Amino acid sequence: MASPERIQWFSSLKYGMFLHYGIYSSIGRCEWTYWLDDFTVDEYAQLEKNFHPDEGIADEWAQTAKEAGMKYMVLTTRHHDGYCLWNTATQDYNSVKGTPGRDIVAEYVEACRKAGLAVGLYYSVYDWRYKCTWNKKKSAWTEEDAKSAKDFLAMVYAQVRELLTNYGKIDILWFDSTWLPEDTTAEELYQDLIDMARELQPGILMNDRTGVKCDFGTPERAIEPAKDRAWESCLTLDPVSWGHVPYSPSRKTTPNVVHDLMFTLAGGGNLLLNSGPTAKGWLHKGEKQTILEVGEWYKKYAEAFRNITTSPLDDYGSIFSCCGEHVRFIGSDDPCVHYMFTKCWMGTEFWVGRVGTEVESVTLLPDNTPVEFHTNGRNRLILTGLPETAPDPYSTVFKITFKEPAKVYTIPDSERGSL
Ligand code: GLC
Repeated sequence: MASPERIQWFSSLKYGMFLHYGIYSSIGRCEWTYWLDDFTVDEYAQLEKNFHPDEGIADEWAQTAKEAGMKYMVLTTRHHDGYCLWNTATQDYNSVKGTPGRDIVAEYVEACRKAGLAVGLYYSVYDWRYKCTWNKKKSAWTEEDAKSAKDFLAMVYAQVRELLTNYGKIDILWFDSTWLPEDTTAEELYQDLIDMARELQPGILMNDRTGVKCDFGTPERAIEPAKDRAWESCLTLDPVSWGHVPYSPSRKTTPNVVHDLMFTLAGGGNLLLNSGPTAKGWLHKGEKQTILEVGEWYKKYAEAFRNITTSPLDDYGSIFSCCGEHVRFIGSDDPCVHYMFTKCWMGTEFWVGRVGTEVESVTLLPDNTPVEFHTNGRNRLILTGLPETAPDPYSTVFKITFKEPAKVYTIPDSERGSL
């Protein structure tokens, strides 16, 4: 495991950009096109001929992330198709020896550093080109399968070593989709890989996706708070694909992402928001606009995100909870100060609760405008004198200061009646 300080540092990053970019981006049919469209290895390799990333794309990624308030990035250095975006000595099938003639990983790492962002590298521990990937039934392996498994593992170790040796300090190694044949534990195959990574990059943070338990969990396309460890939700802007798809009719909108962000942060996690750059590597215009609009919102309420803690008021769930579908709470470093994020607007009154601690003041962010309030006989907090329409089209934020550390009002059995 990384040190508690490093894990804490990772959790403090809060918001990052995930990028799926590779030769699949050149045809815009999802990063799984190799498998989905039943390419042979040779046919797929032909796509490489049309892979022409423009100069300057990595700076666009990093500058956009920075402008949006993100603190880190993770780039697919190699997806399940096996194509490497760096100058690997393990195979010629890479962006330096191939058509682009450029080391995209080097450009990316440099752009992150220039923008002051932490550097994350995605690496797929899976490769469709290898026969062993298609046959996990070890007992039925031919000699060829066994050789393929050996070659595959040698490649993984060699490539990870390159990535962690040749590009200076790497903050995050983001493994994906482990290859694990039957009757084999992840530790048998990958514990040495993890150890090697920590030796090469002592401060590195790694996720669990090799199957070996590491520093943080990565719920995919889901916001699933983990209580006892660091976690990061990875979500796509396109509803399905991580790689670029030009004609997606239902990409996430700005309020969708704002809500994802506040739900993730309220649960104590990080949000790694994915965008699939276009064939030539530029961010998709609509996705970029959404990222920047969310960034405006995120920066507008910076006060609420400065020292995030989970709030006891965020006991999301039942009719007796403090927090319904319409709000989320984020705590701060002061147990008396909590931020309430709205997901809808009720007009001149806004009610929430039950709160179990007396409220000292309520203000409306970002200007801290005082808000009138009272509580009713069932400890519901009711804000009054509010504007008819929501002050913020995505999510309005209130700061609530309590007289003591805030807690939820627990309904005594005597008040539940027959419920
Ligand atoms: C899955 C998919 C992959 C995507 C990843 C992101 O493992 O196979 O396409 O890169 O999730 O979390």
